[in-house]
Formats: sequence, C-alpha cells, structure tokens
Amino acid sequence: MPASFDYDETNAHERYDKGRSLPPETLRLWQEAIIGQLPREEVKTIIDLGCGTGRFSLLLSDAFSAKVYGIEPSEKMLSTARQNISSSLITFLKGSGEGIPLPANTADMIFLSMVFHHIEDKEKALFGFRKVLKDKGHVLIRTSTRQSMKTYFWPQFFPGAMEIEMKRAPDRAELTGFFKDRGFYLTRHLLVKQRFAKNHLEYFEKISTRTLSSLQAISDQEFQDGLARLKEYCLSRNTSLPVREEIDLFVFQLRYYPSGGD
Ligand SMILES: C[S@@+](CC[C@H](N)C(=O)[O-])C[C@H]1O[C@@H](n2cnc3c(N)ncnc32)[C@H](O)[C@@H]1O
Repeated sequence: MPASFDYDETNAHERYDKGRSLPPETLRLWQEAIIGQLPREEVKTIIDLGCGTGRFSLLLSDAFSAKVYGIEPSEKMLSTARQNISSSLITFLKGSGEGIPLPANTADMIFLSMVFHHIEDKEKALFGFRKVLKDKGHVLIRTSTRQSMKTYFWPQFFPGAMEIEMKRAPDRAELTGFFKDRGFYLTRHLLVKQRFAKNHLEYFEKISTRTLSSLQAISDQEFQDGLARLKEYCLSRNTSLPVREEIDLFVFQLRYYPSGGD
C-alpha cells in the first residue's frame, strides 16, 4: 500500500465521523495535551494539515482562539469538513503536505493528526514546513507509531492490515531523527492514553465501519474473517469497561537560523 492512500477513491468520508469520532472526554484530553505544549498567547495561526473531516480543526481554533487553515487533498473529506464546521476563524483549502497553499511565514503551528504516514514525499513536506512556519514555529504530530501499534488489539485480528501498519507507521526514534536532521528540535514526546470507545461493543462497531485505511487495503474476505473473530472476542469481554489506546504526540520546534535560513 503506497503512503499516499487516496481517500477520494473510497467513501470513507461518509463513515469517517462514525468510525473515528472521539468522545467529548477524549477531545478534552487532547485539547489539554496540545495547549500544555505551547505558550497559548503566541499561537495565532495554525495549519491543521490533512484535516480530513475537520475532527481537530475546531478543537484547535477554540484551544488557542486562533485562525486555523484546514488543508486537505481529498475533495470528499474536504466537502464533509465544510459541511461539519462553520466558523469565521476556520478556512478549509485543498492542498497537501507536499504543497501547502499558503505564503511563507504564515503559521505558528502545524498540526498533523494521523497524517504523517500518508505523506509520500516527506523530504519535500519538511522543506515546505520550514517555509510556511514563522520563526521558532512548532510542528505537532499526533500519530500511532510502530511501538504503539503493537499495543492495540484490533490489528491482531487482521494480519494483512497489521503488516501494512507496521511498514508505514513511524518508528519513534526514526521520526525524531528525521526532524532533527532537517532543522527541528524535539521539545517533547508524550503518550496520551485516550478512550477510543465506551465498551468493547462500541469498539467492535467502530472497527466494523472500516474507516481505517489499512482495513480498506485488505481483501473483503480477510476483512470479514477478521471481523467475525473480533466480534467473538469483543462479545466475550466485560462490556461495561471503556477501551483505551495510547497515541504518541511529538512536539518539534523550528531551530532559529540567525543568518536567515537553510
Ligand atoms: C486518517 S485521516 C486523518 C484526518 C484528520 N487529521 C483526523 O485526525 O481526523 C488522514 C488524512 O490525511 C489526508 N492525506 C493523505 N495524503 C496526504 C498528504 N500527502 N498531505 C496531507 N494530507 C494527506 C487524507 O486525505 C486524510 O484525510
């Protein structure tokens, strides 16, 4: 599966919010985790790169009282985002990590949620990040990693999807090294243990929407077989307990170049 999975070739946008919606408690957890990393008053303009249906665009705008540009390559995801969110502080634009359609020195922060692994030309993307960020700007990456992926239980039921995830999910040390070599400091790395579903039944329902791109990449037969095993497992669990999972948050800051750049 190539890094650049095309969301326009699927109808994931129709199911995305159901399959990947986060409960209010989890959204609050992320809002606090993100605010805690940066001086709030210094963040006036944010790029929500690969914003999808806008799950984080409003949260970011509210958290910092900031202007947000939601940038997204998929027309379908973009049109759902525009339908979902109407705020004078938020603008949705077609673009990508490799081509951010904004002038240099625009943003205080670039936020990527579950997007970095989709960017095919990461070198080009980081070059663009350095241009579009203001001095000492930040890049926040919310992602699963090879390390966290091993702690989730859904991939165990879909070996083909697990293989895809393990190939494309960033390794913690490699991701940090990649940014360091290209002009960024790692200022913080944390693990946020979020509630994904209120119980195992809801967990099963969310996975069954097949919005995870690796589940779309495997055959229908493999998906159905895995789903049957997952259902059996989820039904056998105590359904009153929430299902949590750990997501990595990396905070990078652009190094200061006194002579004007790279
Ligand atoms: C898993 S979704 C995450 C959406 C959103 N950030 C969220 O957390 O709800 C991945 C998104 O990345 C977008 N995407 C794919 N390739 C991209 C690229 N090269 N640059 C930016 N976004 C990309 C997809 O279209 C999709 O909307």
